[in-house]
Amino acid sequence: MFTSHPIGFVSSPYQNASEVPKGLGAKHEADGVLKILPEFEPGLTDIEGFSHLFVIWEFDRSPREQLRGDDLLASPPSDNRQHGVFATRSPRRPNAIGLTVVELLRRDGVALHVRGVDMLDGTAVLDIKPYLSSIPTERLRRGWLAEAEARHRG
Ligand SMILES: C[S@@+](CC[C@H](N)C(=O)[O-])C[C@H]1O[C@@H](n2cnc3c(N)ncnc32)[C@H](O)[C@@H]1O
Repeated sequence: MFTSHPIGFVSSPYQNASEVPKGLGAKHEADGVLKILPEFEPGLTDIEGFSHLFVIWEFDRSPREQLRGDDLLASPPSDNRQHGVFATRSPRRPNAIGLTVVELLRRDGVALHVRGVDMLDGTAVLDIKPYLSSIPTERLRRGWLAEAEARHRG
């Protein structure tokens, strides 16, 4: 297994989990800054050309626990039914890895100004990759979330 090392930290308006918008229709439009450590700055070369980025980060404020059996079922705030953790974005998962797509607003040296953060302030960033999607919308299925949205609309 590998040991991860932060490449930087998120500056976010959210200090507590309760402040992050949750549930059906929640929008993630908050601005934040990915402050990359100076030794990784060469790795940012040419990143400005991408409108959106995948940010891979650590749920560093989730308890470390071994999940088995029913623990692998999550109760997302967007539904009143349980779903397998791998069919959700739950912070409580076997490896504490978060993934967020953000819009890159601008780069200022080692500071990436982004929109769409859902991480808490100070969250460790593990990796960044350009967001590229070639999957046509008509081929995307939204699984239980589409059903929950339909039930919600009544
Ligand atoms: C539902 S998760 C989704 C995160 C990410 N978009 C993903 O899909 O992996 C978002 C929640 O993670 C929690 N969270 C954010 N930053 C965290 C951190 N550093 N440690 C633990 N939980 C965190 C907040 O409660 C937030 O509402």
